[in-house]
Amino acid sequence: MINSELSHLRGSPFDALRSLLDPLPPAQNTEPTILTIGEPQHKPPQLMIDALRANEHLYGKYPPVGGTAELRSAIAGWLTRRYALPEGMIEADQNIAPVNGTKEALYMIASVITERAGHNQPKPVILLPTPYYHVYHAAAVMAGADPTFLPAGPDTHFFPDLDALEPNLLDRASAFYLCNPSNPQGTVASAEYLSAALALARKHDFMLIVDECYSEIYDKTPPTGILEICAMSGGALDHVLAFHSLSKRSSAAGLRSGFCVGERDIIKTFLNLRNFAGAASPLPVCAAAAALWNDDIHVTENRALYREKFDIAEEIFGSKFGFYRPEGGFFLWLDVGDGVESAVRLWTKAAIRVLPGKFLSVADSDGVNPGDPYIRIALVSPPENSKEALTRLANSL
Ligand SMILES: Cc1ncc(COP(=O)(O)O)c(C=O)c1O
Repeated sequence: MINSELSHLRGSPFDALRSLLDPLPPAQNTEPTILTIGEPQHKPPQLMIDALRANEHLYGKYPPVGGTAELRSAIAGWLTRRYALPEGMIEADQNIAPVNGTKEALYMIASVITERAGHNQPKPVILLPTPYYHVYHAAAVMAGADPTFLPAGPDTHFFPDLDALEPNLLDRASAFYLCNPSNPQGTVASAEYLSAALALARKHDFMLIVDECYSEIYDKTPPTGILEICAMSGGALDHVLAFHSLSKRSSAAGLRSGFCVGERDIIKTFLNLRNFAGAASPLPVCAAAAALWNDDIHVTENRALYREKFDIAEEIFGSKFGFYRPEGGFFLWLDVGDGVESAVRLWTKAAIRVLPGKFLSVADSDGVNPGDPYIRIALVSPPENSKEALTRLANSL
């Protein structure tokens, strides 16, 4: 027996890419260059390794599901510093749930906040942008909700148009996933936009889930966080959850460490569910994560490497293929006319693997897929490798 909800899942974009490109031979005489996955290739900071080593005697212990007090306090300290929050707005033991990477937590949270529909009742709705991070979709489906895709195209700075949302739809929503900075497009939502989204969440009683895992990789201005918007409106955290990760901030995807912050009762219930169904982070990982959240210097250095790559990309692409410098995150979102055709050409003619926008997106009711014209390029290699790869890519396009 298999849960029939699983039949609603779309394959991951990487499965779709494998089906497209694996049968095709890459161009010969050149090493394949992989620009698909958002896995930073910068070296993780030494302080992470040091903390793991210093705590290696703790691997034998079962870790607590809520992480350590040291980790929660490092996270609260970072949030307060990063977003200039009033002291005490984030209560380390009430508002924070450390998680073993945000991927699985973004998935699990939907079940915490979504009431399943009774027999013959309409399903609740979970709103998500398209293009989107594929985990949001699985989260909605497996929580028993109807995933409702909101097109996020260039006319609205690649965020869903909030004014277009019908009150009836919003009333049925249990959650709205927003990704800020946006993946794949690399734009940043304005404070006004975030305030409007929060106002809708409070008015229509749904949870605003803001995935801020790219918040520390930015070009010029630090992206506004949803907690700053909460601070502006008195500091209450109701209807809000934000997710942060060390995978991008500290180039530590393999550490599997992040956290969720927000409304106290939801955090408590989430941790309770995780007691049954979540894997807690090992104690050495908690210690390393605390050291990383306590340090901002390595983050500044990391950001400088990405800026170097944005400079390289700007020099190579100029105004071609709708190039713009990402405001946040590390992806280029290039308008190449036909993303699938370009991905095939780049692979077979230049041995470069990129992700077609189509695989990150779904078609609207008119059959228009907002991702169709685009390819996503992950600028995750060190700058010296990126220059060569992007030059070859631009020539092949
Ligand atoms: C938008 C977005 N959110 C969340 C994640 C998950 O990150 P992690 O599980 O490494 O914290 C990713 C990873 O690529 C991502 O792109």
